[in-house]
Amino acid sequence: MRSLTKISDLSVSDLETIVAMADEFRETRGQSSAHTPLTGRFVALVFEKPSLRTKVSFEVATVSLGAHPIFLSSEQIFASGGNERGRESVPDIGRNLERFCDVIVARVFRHDTIRQLASIVKVPVINALCDQHHPCQAIADVVTMERFLKKTGGLKVAYIGDGNNVATSLVQACVMRGHDVVVASPAGYEVSNVEQRVTHSLKVRESQSIDFIREPAYAVRGADIVYTDTFVSMGQESEKSARLAAFQGYQVTSALMALASAHARFMHCLPAHRGEEVTDEVMDSAQSIVFDQAESRLHVAKAVLAWSLT
Ligand code: CP
Ligand code: NVA
Repeated sequence: MRSLTKISDLSVSDLETIVAMADEFRETRGQSSAHTPLTGRFVALVFEKPSLRTKVSFEVATVSLGAHPIFLSSEQIFASGGNERGRESVPDIGRNLERFCDVIVARVFRHDTIRQLASIVKVPVINALCDQHHPCQAIADVVTMERFLKKTGGLKVAYIGDGNNVATSLVQACVMRGHDVVVASPAGYEVSNVEQRVTHSLKVRESQSIDFIREPAYAVRGADIVYTDTFVSMGQESEKSARLAAFQGYQVTSALMALASAHARFMHCLPAHRGEEVTDEVMDSAQSIVFDQAESRLHVAKAVLAWSLT
């Protein structure tokens, strides 16, 4: 039994295993012979924040593997307790859930909540997004880019925009898979220094390049993948106007895509804020693989659940 609280919890070989399992689940999808290794298990899906892809992919994955999902929204367990700390403490939520369920998938505001849960319960805890990490997304991202570019290492991945949870997990997963990464962010919105250091520590080959820079045009030059995410993550709504001002010049446009490789693909974890971090033209272009990327979330959700419980 293993938790996934952030990408750097994984060894290179764990990541390899999960990617291979996801590829296999993609191949066997819909086959009546598809195996159901989680028959009789229960999966708690604890969500403090909204979700489309993560909620649906984990619910479908859970049922497809023979297990039963139990969705718990913020109102049900965190928020409605009549005091600012919610109905009961995070440790107590965990101590209850582990008595009923075999794995806890949690989307939370603070990484500390994931850390606390994982340190207390005896069942695996899967991070379904927090303020600092989004590991299931990043695994789906490497699965998708490697499938489309037909390469398992040595891609150049350029991330443009906020050095947020998605950026952090993405660059760490890419580095562990042997890809080169470059992140272009405005001042004050970079991947944190701590996570930049972690990213460098994950290098798998000497010549691998890992850069955190300012200039989007420079970052995308020759890139195989151009990736962006929202400038205003969940929980940052009050910073919206300051953020939109700070990210002027960081929109992924067709002009920016033209600086990447001719075969470059555009990726976005979604939801996209069309007209902010990306134009309609790029989202809807032949280069865009954002919905294939979303589909990969399902194969990876199955892989992560099966991996965590075996
Ligand atoms: N990409 C992603 O995690 O989407 P949701 O927020 O809809 O789950
Ligand atoms: N960075 C975004 C990702 C949403 C999937 C957020 O945290 O809201």
